[in-house]
Amino acid sequence: MVKQKSIIDIGKMKESGEKIAMLTCYDYPTARIMDSCGVDMILVGDSAGVVFAGYENTLPITMDEMLYHVKAVMRAHPKALVIADMPFMSYQITIAEAKLNSGRMIKEGGVAAVKIEGGEPICDTIKAITDIDIPVMAHIGLTPQSIHRMGGYKVQGKGSEQAERLIADALAVEKAGAFAVVLEGIPQSLAVRITESLSIPTIGIGAGAGCDGQVLVIHDILGLCEKYSPKFVKRYAECSPIISAAVSGYISDVKSSRFPAAEHSFN
Ligand code: KIV
Repeated sequence: MVKQKSIIDIGKMKESGEKIAMLTCYDYPTARIMDSCGVDMILVGDSAGVVFAGYENTLPITMDEMLYHVKAVMRAHPKALVIADMPFMSYQITIAEAKLNSGRMIKEGGVAAVKIEGGEPICDTIKAITDIDIPVMAHIGLTPQSIHRMGGYKVQGKGSEQAERLIADALAVEKAGAFAVVLEGIPQSLAVRITESLSIPTIGIGAGAGCDGQVLVIHDILGLCEKYSPKFVKRYAECSPIISAAVSGYISDVKSSRFPAAEHSFN
């Protein structure tokens, strides 16, 4: 049995100054590949709703849909710490529901931690979940589940008042028991201030190089999501044209009877 990274291992990485690499993942084959590369944490993000399922935003994805992705990833038995994102409305209504739904991710999904969006206003929920020994990763700044309040995907914490609010949010989620916090879409100088103020690791996305670690959406780094490519994404491959070429080659071979050939057929 492979030894999986724990939240303790991740905390030690901040202490030793080793940067933490996290990626999103939603399926078994990709989980196997990225785990064999040595990624530290895998986030089964609710971004699955957008990049995998084709919804307009992350709001429609359900607990059952998220559990489907979580189970697929866990079947790869990753060595990375796997975190399940809690979908919109799975933790906001009552603390009892938040505990129950987080528990499903652990018990049915098999992950070791959950992620929930929000700062100070959600701290009672973070505390309640961590009090039943379910590790929580917090997520502040540009929180995609708050798209309607923010009026779109906009950089947060720009003015001094907003920046102070975000620092207060970061300190509050740490005090509530979060083992790490995602900082999304905030100025890099603010991310540095937050990272220096916390003893738990900060994981940045669109928050500059000063965080303890980074996370990106796998479809974005592979060039699989052509709808839009935010400024903070670095594309490490252009997979869409590769897939197009393979599919076009197959279609053309079938149409011209070049496939299947003798070696693909049984006697
Ligand atoms: O759902 C997701 O992919 C996320 C990351 C972008 C942090 O929450």
